[in-house]
Amino acid sequence: MTPPPAPGAALEARIDALVAGLDLERKVRLLTGASAWTTHDEPAAGLRAMVLSDGPAGVRGQVEDDRSTSANLPCPTALAATWDESLVERLGRLLAAEARRKHADVLLAPTVNLQRTPLGGRHFECLSEDPLLSGRIGAAYVAGVQAGGVAATAKHYVANDSETDRFTVDVRVDECTLRELYLAPFERLVQDGGAWLVMAAYNGVNGATMTESPLLADPLKGEWGFDGVVVSDWSATRSTEASARAALDLVMPGPHGPWGGELVAAVRDGRVPEAAVDDKVRRLLRLAARVGALEGADPAAAAPDRPVPSAPGTPPAPEEAAGLLRAAAAAGSVLVRNQAGTLPLAADGLRRVAVLGPNAAVARAQGGGSVRVTPDYAVSPLDGLRTALTPLGVEVTHALGARVGAGVEPLTAAQASDPDTGEPGVRLRLLDERGEVLRSERRASGRLRWSWDGLPRRAATVEVAARLRATADGAHGLGVVGVGHFRLVAGGAVLVDEDLLPESDDVGAASLTPGRRGGRLPLRAGEEVEVTVRYRPDPAAPAARMTLGVQAPALPDDQELDHAAAVARDADAAVVVIGTTDEIESEGFDRASLALPGRQDELVRRVAAANPRTVVVVNSGGPVELPWRDQVPAILLCWFGGQELGNALADVLLGRVEPGGRLPTTWGARERDVPVLEARPVGGRLRYGEGIHVGYRAWARAGAAPAYPFGHGLGYTTWSYEQVTAPATVPVGEDLGARVRLRNRGRRTGREVVQAYLSRRSSAVERPAVWLAGFAVVQAEPGETVTAEVRVAARAFQHWSVAAHRWETEPGGFELTAGRSVADRLLATHVTVVASQLQG
Ligand code: BGC
Repeated sequence: MTPPPAPGAALEARIDALVAGLDLERKVRLLTGASAWTTHDEPAAGLRAMVLSDGPAGVRGQVEDDRSTSANLPCPTALAATWDESLVERLGRLLAAEARRKHADVLLAPTVNLQRTPLGGRHFECLSEDPLLSGRIGAAYVAGVQAGGVAATAKHYVANDSETDRFTVDVRVDECTLRELYLAPFERLVQDGGAWLVMAAYNGVNGATMTESPLLADPLKGEWGFDGVVVSDWSATRSTEASARAALDLVMPGPHGPWGGELVAAVRDGRVPEAAVDDKVRRLLRLAARVGALEGADPAAAAPDRPVPSAPGTPPAPEEAAGLLRAAAAAGSVLVRNQAGTLPLAADGLRRVAVLGPNAAVARAQGGGSVRVTPDYAVSPLDGLRTALTPLGVEVTHALGARVGAGVEPLTAAQASDPDTGEPGVRLRLLDERGEVLRSERRASGRLRWSWDGLPRRAATVEVAARLRATADGAHGLGVVGVGHFRLVAGGAVLVDEDLLPESDDVGAASLTPGRRGGRLPLRAGEEVEVTVRYRPDPAAPAARMTLGVQAPALPDDQELDHAAAVARDADAAVVVIGTTDEIESEGFDRASLALPGRQDELVRRVAAANPRTVVVVNSGGPVELPWRDQVPAILLCWFGGQELGNALADVLLGRVEPGGRLPTTWGARERDVPVLEARPVGGRLRYGEGIHVGYRAWARAGAAPAYPFGHGLGYTTWSYEQVTAPATVPVGEDLGARVRLRNRGRRTGREVVQAYLSRRSSAVERPAVWLAGFAVVQAEPGETVTAEVRVAARAFQHWSVAAHRWETEPGGFELTAGRSVADRLLATHVTVVASQLQG
């Protein structure tokens, strides 16, 4: 990957002149956002405002609104599970096109914190547990986004690897571990991907909160030569002087913040050097030049009108985007178990397929938090399989079987109509203090959000009215979610009338852990009922958000299980879709347990007992316990697969596409076996006491076997690994080219991720038992032999020397192994690193 060129000398000279032409107030004004998602303009410098938008699984834009939908990618863990840099780069180009469509200049993505503990709330939003894999996939993501002229942001710098007390936690981590693990992906994104922004995290590291941390100056800006903008995480900046003197450049969101007039005064008093302010402004103007926001400067990448993914720098048409997202979801799906060729299912032998489970009929396409977008659409597993199987004459049956989470689902346009017009959807009215209607409009769903900028001024009450149509007999759950006063009336009955408070004190609690209340209403199938909710947002909250939701009547739990087992028994094959939701895996809090919620384990056991051809599909962002895993014939992990989830799943289950994914993170059998689990700080501190032994490195050190090891994943063909060759010696500081020969022994064309690992028996420095050193993707026809060229970068042989504060290479012998996963290393060779004569 070639990083984008550095800005030319002429542009740098012009930026210097522009900075020199601005007085202190004007310069400082630029360094805090103008709003939640925009920066200030400065007409005198030819600078327009820039728009920042969240990611990484889509580009939300400035509003979260059902009228402004976004292409929803598989969650980042699923992207890393592809191990496919060129695919991820193409997805980055799609994101750039989406950003342009939404008038965004900066995408606040990717998230390259490491999956240190499977309990981490944003596990699904991170790429992997390995710094090399995260660095390479993350750099490809950045390269793709920026090739489209949109800036990418490496976040959250650094050690923001869990969510508990994320605003205040002080992560205690030694220098070597920081360098070799947590900083490593950021280094790759800056140096190989050429990221134009880095986001300073909420947490602290070794005593300094990240917006004031010396790590911003070094290694980021100094040693790595980062010439872009360090933006704060939203509301992460808590000081004037300390953050301004540290290398933070831009405070978000705006317009209020701790810089502004305070910073002007601090500069005037000599507490912050004006040169520090100038440097920040220079970086902001450089970013503006890159994204085309600075008059007269050529943007770093031309903004094309209607590009195709195959043509660099071009946005795809909707059908091309759908195809790309479908292929990506399949490429990231990991088949962890497949006994006796259960998969792929041969459609011609099937008459009826039962698609069961709580995640079958609802598309759980994404995790929760700032990553969320309103997807263009989302194909559920049930819909995807119905679309694929019905034309083949295969009947698809369904039962819920078990519930995941107790929550109500947002009301959809299919379930309700606007009482004013009779059209599908709900009626939204904004009322002022006197009850006068300020705005009235139809909306498609009961999920309503007014971002960090809050509601239109003067709106005191949000009113949502809908005619709900019951589709089944029984008690319907109706509920509201949000922070503020809620009054919910349905069919004349008052179900809620109270103040709802957030359930945590996180900075984003109003959106991440809102209050929830509801009640039940008995209805008959076909009956219609008027539902109205009046919501008075908390004026102190930074955002206004509410959900009006409904829960269809369900049988008592035991009967649901019996029913699902009966439906499974009557089918030729059963697909059970289990997992979590965006309320279980979310930004803002860590998971309390790795167990599947509700009675899902029981559901799998009952279905597998009823139908020997049972395929379990695990629809979660991170690892969950699968206690029955050896008693079912096939298990496929489909992650939070994005809007094409159901179609991709059908492609994989029916063998139209191979499940291409390999685990980017270890799946332990039992939570209590996981070597690095703790995410709760003690006395405000979270000690990374395991040092460099995280993920598979920790399992290897503990000598324990997980359920599914890092790198594991089956395809639909089989491979024999024949030979690994590498030069016997490699000079210190040089890359190594290894070659792995393998043969496709099966009857299908296949794709394989060839992984190379290093280990070293005796060493003067502490090392992991084994570490990923390189990987390459190959494809081969049945019977074909291919050679994977695996580049092992010089860094893979290096360690961080705390004494010397630099990377060093210990000469001597390393074992290079190659194989299908960290636990299935089939070939080995020996490489000796030799000190070159030039080494001092
Ligand atoms: C998250 C960031 C996000 C920002 C803006 C923060 O709470 O940590 O990842 O970009 O909000 O939504």
